[in-house]
Amino acid sequence: MKVHNFAVIGVGGRGGDWVKELSRNQEVKLLAVMDIDEKRVKKVAEECGATPYLDAEEMFQQEKLDGVVIATPHYMHAPYTVMAAEHDVNVISEKPMAITLQQCDEMIIACRKHAVKLAIGFQHRFNPTHQYIYDAARGAKGELGTIGRVTDWQCVTRHYRGDLYYLSSSPVDPKTGVKAGPWRGRWSTEGAGILINQAVHELDLFQWMVGPLRSLSAHAATISKEHALIEVEDTVAVSFESLAGAVGTMIFTSSNKKSEKNKFVVHGTEGYVEEIDGMVTMDTRYKNEEDYEVPFTQPARQNVLENFIDAVDKDTEPMVPGEEGRKAIEVIRAILKSVETDQAVYFPVKDSSSFPTVINVYRDKPFEF
Ligand SMILES: NC(=O)c1ccc[n+]([C@@H]2O[C@H](COP(=O)([O-])OP(=O)(O)OC[C@H]3O[C@@H](n4cnc5c(N)ncnc54)[C@H](O)[C@@H]3O)[C@@H](O)[C@H]2O)c1
Repeated sequence: MKVHNFAVIGVGGRGGDWVKELSRNQEVKLLAVMDIDEKRVKKVAEECGATPYLDAEEMFQQEKLDGVVIATPHYMHAPYTVMAAEHDVNVISEKPMAITLQQCDEMIIACRKHAVKLAIGFQHRFNPTHQYIYDAARGAKGELGTIGRVTDWQCVTRHYRGDLYYLSSSPVDPKTGVKAGPWRGRWSTEGAGILINQAVHELDLFQWMVGPLRSLSAHAATISKEHALIEVEDTVAVSFESLAGAVGTMIFTSSNKKSEKNKFVVHGTEGYVEEIDGMVTMDTRYKNEEDYEVPFTQPARQNVLENFIDAVDKDTEPMVPGEEGRKAIEVIRAILKSVETDQAVYFPVKDSSSFPTVINVYRDKPFEF
């Protein structure tokens, strides 16, 4: 069995998960970990037996790596991907791929130029239900039956995030007035709010499952008083039209303390698939005696890491290469553009590196019940 030498850049919450996953995998040797937080990177390195680095360039020069996982704040995915490619190292970049389309393009071009693989961490594409919808939307009949031609979809995604989530990374620590450093809640480092951090999974899934998209129009606001320090949106509503003529609506928010469940439904002319917090109900043309439930925990065909190792070994494309990861960023940039201009936006999107100045901020407005 071939063993692949790996490193992780950014060993915080998600990077910590990656360190565990890579350490468990028999096909991987975790050689190095890198982070700008010296205390954290040394602790992680000690626990997993890898070499700690504070400088990524030095790490790429010292270690002979086959792959690197980038789990830093969003705005650093692009510079580290380009650096890895220049050292001929294959890359898994966490979602979102980057914060602008220009950054996505830099990543794609660098990886193609150096002939290394670039995979984006959209793990939900490996879920069998989502794979089924992708196939069914393209007319597959299979043993689960058909939903016919997709007519419409709805998705509501609620991920409550309180003040602590943003305070720990707010532009200014309200207690001390000191610039805190980390990255959430700011256009320049996070690139958006709920859209790019949480909803990016659903946006990726829907543009993939039932897309490609023709146009969208959107409204966004920062509503929660708990999000008083953030620049970016916490609540978004979008209506879509696909190239094939289906329509969809999606709502995303991180403001509701008492959240109702995450849910979506995709309807076609012959049936539907509904998912509520991971539980799936379907009624399709050949299995319509009664609705039945498919547990979310049903194993997917592969996961991000195994699929990436296969792509490296067999010189194939990963499930979500850079060109695919870019599509979710294109949707996010389109939504922000629609919010800014108050108009529908058509694909493909011509991006700039600017961020919206017009997000409705309701949190300071008086309201009456
Ligand atoms: N696929 C998923 O479902 C999933 C889940 C959670 C997070 N993520 C992604 O993982 C990334 C990290 O998120 P997180 O929640 O772990 O954030 P975090 O703030 O907990 O961790 C970020 C880590 O990166 C380090 N860091 C910051 N700037 C750096 C730099 N310039 N160079 C090297 N290290 C740097 C920080 O010190 C910290 O250890 C984000 O892009 C996020 O979207 C993906």
